[in-house]
Amino acid sequence: MKTKDKSCLKYINSTVKNTKNKTILLNGATGSIGYEVVKFLSYLNNNLIILVRNTENGLKIKHEFESLYKNKIYVLYFDYLNKDSINNVISYLKTNNVNLDIFINISGIYHQKYQIIDELEKTYLVNYLMPIKFINDLFNLYNDLKVIITDSVTYHFNLNNKKLLKIKNKQDYINYLNSIKNKTKRYGITKRLLLEYLTNLKYLQNKNIIFAHPGISGTNLFKAKNKAFNKVFYLFVPSLMKLIFMSPNKASLSLIKACDVDKIEINKWIGPRAFIHCWGYPKIYNLSKKAYDKKITNKVYELTNLL
Ligand SMILES: NC(=O)c1ccc[n+]([C@@H]2O[C@H](COP(=O)([O-])OP(=O)(O)OC[C@H]3O[C@@H](n4cnc5c(N)ncnc54)[C@H](OP(=O)(O)O)[C@@H]3O)[C@@H](O)[C@H]2O)c1
Repeated sequence: MKTKDKSCLKYINSTVKNTKNKTILLNGATGSIGYEVVKFLSYLNNNLIILVRNTENGLKIKHEFESLYKNKIYVLYFDYLNKDSINNVISYLKTNNVNLDIFINISGIYHQKYQIIDELEKTYLVNYLMPIKFINDLFNLYNDLKVIITDSVTYHFNLNNKKLLKIKNKQDYINYLNSIKNKTKRYGITKRLLLEYLTNLKYLQNKNIIFAHPGISGTNLFKAKNKAFNKVFYLFVPSLMKLIFMSPNKASLSLIKACDVDKIEINKWIGPRAFIHCWGYPKIYNLSKKAYDKKITNKVYELTNLL
């Protein structure tokens, strides 16, 4: 393990008790935070199935950590924008009788160009709708699966409840979602909708769903290749973020803690403990009340099921 991981390992060695010898499925493994999660879960001797868009990079990660930690890592092609890949993963789990303990949803996109795919803007597909479809498929296979959701403090963005509650049909809901043109707001709304829908699923079906957020970290989420902002933004902002905010290894600890706790209550989630919950080691704390308002979670649940 690299010296930059020393403090994370100290935290893991002293707090993580239950996350050993598990079988864990996760996506986003080739991303900044996902890579760190794969590293720490391998260190803890868990077997992993990593779902990646770039299998060459996935195989590199597999070889790196299998040789270091002697765990087993399986690599499967997966893309939330490719339905066949999602179905193939479900078939793989079924046909191989995989005994899964945990699924961690890490995949996500942020600063990207506005793009409609199959009626919906891409950010909703990757961050909200397709994860819900995939998670429902997983629950059909594994009733007691523990599902960990990488969410974000941006869930605080206002959903415009008045407008939302008036929406009655699929097309109006699609129009409402696609009308949000501000990238940061759209990202926040995707994270909020994911939280609302899955909170309702937790209420209705008593599913073991745990929300966690990594804090803020200068990761590939803000990479220039997304070309969402002008050159000046990319000249300063990503490197400033790396200077000011947490490194991805520390940011990944919320997800490791989420693996380790048994269940958490509906009004709580896991995130960094320090200043505005963006820095520091993770702890369990309260979600804002607006995130589990029954009327809204019900409405989001009903509208999402129309899509
Ligand atoms: N960084 C932060 O400050 C922060 C704060 C709060 C929450 N988060 C959340 O943390 C998670 C990880 O983000 P990160 O910061 O580590 O950024 P990242 O390095 O960009 O990782 C994002 C991951 O999502 C994957 N992905 C993108 N599009 C996908 C698709 N269509 N299907 C499946 N996977 C897809 C990427 O795959 P490739 O590797 O192939 O590109 C990558 O592995 C995200 O959900 C993000 O919203 C991050």
